[in-house]
Amino acid sequence: MTAYADFYRQSIDQPDIFWREQAGLIEWKTPPQQVCDYSNPPFAKWFVGGTTNLCHNAVDRHLATRAGQSALVAISTETDTERSYSFAELHAEVQRMAAVLQGLGVKKGDRVLIYMPMIAEAAFAMLACVRIGALHSVVFGGFASGSLASRIEDAEPVAVVSADAGSRGGKVVPYKPLLDEAIALSKHKPAAVLMINRGLAPMHLQPRRDHDWAALREQHLNTVVPCEWVESTHPSYTLYTSGTTGKPKGVQRDTGGYTVALAASMKHIFDAKAGDVYFATSDIGWVVGHSYIVYGPLIAGMTTIMYEGLPTRPDAGVWWSIVEKYQVTHMFSAPTAVRVLKKQDPAYLAKYNVKSLKALWLAGEPLDEPTAQWISDALSVPIIDNYWQTETGWPILTLANGVQQQTTRFGSPGKAMYGYHVKLIDESNGEELTAPNQKGVVAIEGPLPPGCMQTVWRDDARFVNTYWKSIPGRLIYSTFDWGIRDADGYHFILGRTDDVINVAGHRLGTREIEESIASHPNIAEVAVVGVADSLKGQVAMAFAVARDASGLTHEAARLKLEGEVMKQVDSQLGAVARPSRVYFVSVLPKTRSGKLLRRALQAVAERRDPGDLTTMEDPAALQQVKDLVG
Ligand code: PRX
Repeated sequence: MTAYADFYRQSIDQPDIFWREQAGLIEWKTPPQQVCDYSNPPFAKWFVGGTTNLCHNAVDRHLATRAGQSALVAISTETDTERSYSFAELHAEVQRMAAVLQGLGVKKGDRVLIYMPMIAEAAFAMLACVRIGALHSVVFGGFASGSLASRIEDAEPVAVVSADAGSRGGKVVPYKPLLDEAIALSKHKPAAVLMINRGLAPMHLQPRRDHDWAALREQHLNTVVPCEWVESTHPSYTLYTSGTTGKPKGVQRDTGGYTVALAASMKHIFDAKAGDVYFATSDIGWVVGHSYIVYGPLIAGMTTIMYEGLPTRPDAGVWWSIVEKYQVTHMFSAPTAVRVLKKQDPAYLAKYNVKSLKALWLAGEPLDEPTAQWISDALSVPIIDNYWQTETGWPILTLANGVQQQTTRFGSPGKAMYGYHVKLIDESNGEELTAPNQKGVVAIEGPLPPGCMQTVWRDDARFVNTYWKSIPGRLIYSTFDWGIRDADGYHFILGRTDDVINVAGHRLGTREIEESIASHPNIAEVAVVGVADSLKGQVAMAFAVARDASGLTHEAARLKLEGEVMKQVDSQLGAVARPSRVYFVSVLPKTRSGKLLRRALQAVAERRDPGDLTTMEDPAALQQVKDLVG
């Protein structure tokens, strides 16, 4: 057996011994008494009896040894600003934010919704919440008022932290009007709103409810806010993600398990050491931002870089200039970003010295071979694909280079990570596929390892029914991805089994987009499918039946309605969810029993063979689609 194979086997066969050792990577106020309580499957309780604090492990812990080292560097090419915070400065800022939140009434167990651009204050707010035992719920700044409202309603936050505006490609995107609209739409009204004024967009502060961060911060320059020691199982945060149904799920994470899982991943997967420099190009609104912009690198005592801006502005060399300037050792991005850079002049990359980089990790969507090959040649460092989900918080499949250097196989995110008992399951009968190269559902035998979701926020039944009961006859966690595994244990991911699509690494539910489109007064019915795209991986494409189609024979009328529908999605969900095209048809392809033939629709939209159509009600329906997409 190889070193990694042994390591993996121990994690599965002797999880108590394995995870007790990993628990030693973090600091506990009270050490755990039991490694895992799985007496009530599928609910796993990790490190029972232990008390700790996520902020302590990310910040305070390092003060003794590296107070002066840079902890967080916030770079914005949108506002042309760059600011570095040492661990001591970060500690001070987080306490100020924690004191302000406490002043606004936030207590242990309360939720705080964070709707922010990529600025340092967003990280202060996250760390401040977990410092006082409050749960943050970060909502991606690209989401619009409808998405924000449904999350406010579900999380019921006591306070919201936001900013006047974000900025994208030099264009200011005001946040405050979207936030005001979302609060108006939501049944739950947060008692307090804390606004960071960047001076980008004018803001109206609502008396009593809205507060200015700079003014309140002044009152707490030297306030000491100790870390609240919480049970290992105390929730640290919720993060919403899309699934099959329209309503996003609040993925709830614990404290002790998550802290241990991240510390372990920094060591075994990223082979990172204190003092190294981590640059993840994601956004704090996504899980990668939580685990690998904010918490993971800080827990490991690294410097983390937070970047606001495009990869191509002021030019396509901007990321590499950051790598050179800050001597970045670990970089994390998404395949779409690499595909964007691949279209630019390679001279931009050659301009900079990127020798400090040990590897580039890519995740969030399938990494195609040509993209992997191009960036591998350009950087001359290992390109490491890694596959995981919002639900798991850290990689399920990748290469654990900190345990044993292994060769990348382009097209594969690699092997099952320690702690994950990954199986491929035959969907029809629930049986495990053990022979190599067979296609099945990627599933994980419980308990899920530390760091993974505890439950769906306030909905245990949804957690069990959605994730653990989708495969007939057995209680096993489904990732809702198809996969195969070769004889050497390398896996390949072959797309989702459900209606989730992946646009430029952003996970979106087609049902959510359909609901938004269907609320347009002239839309009777709509189907949204993900269609392969050479740049973004997938794009959303909508096929709609208009209530009044009389004018739609004219192109101008069609374009007008298409534009209205797109605007509607922009304003309700955000531009990330906007379909690339809205085609109008007279009927949608359905079975005789009225079930929408999504797979067939998607196949035709991708110009593939739709397969068996014997159950289809009206064959002309697909012909229309064929004619439209050309
Ligand atoms: O379908 C898989 C795809 O993205 C989904 C999870 O998205 P999200 O919750 O946003 O978490 C992203 C964490 C990196 C998965 O169910 N996916 C993620 N990584 C990969 C991937 N598909 C193929 N290859 C990957 N490396």
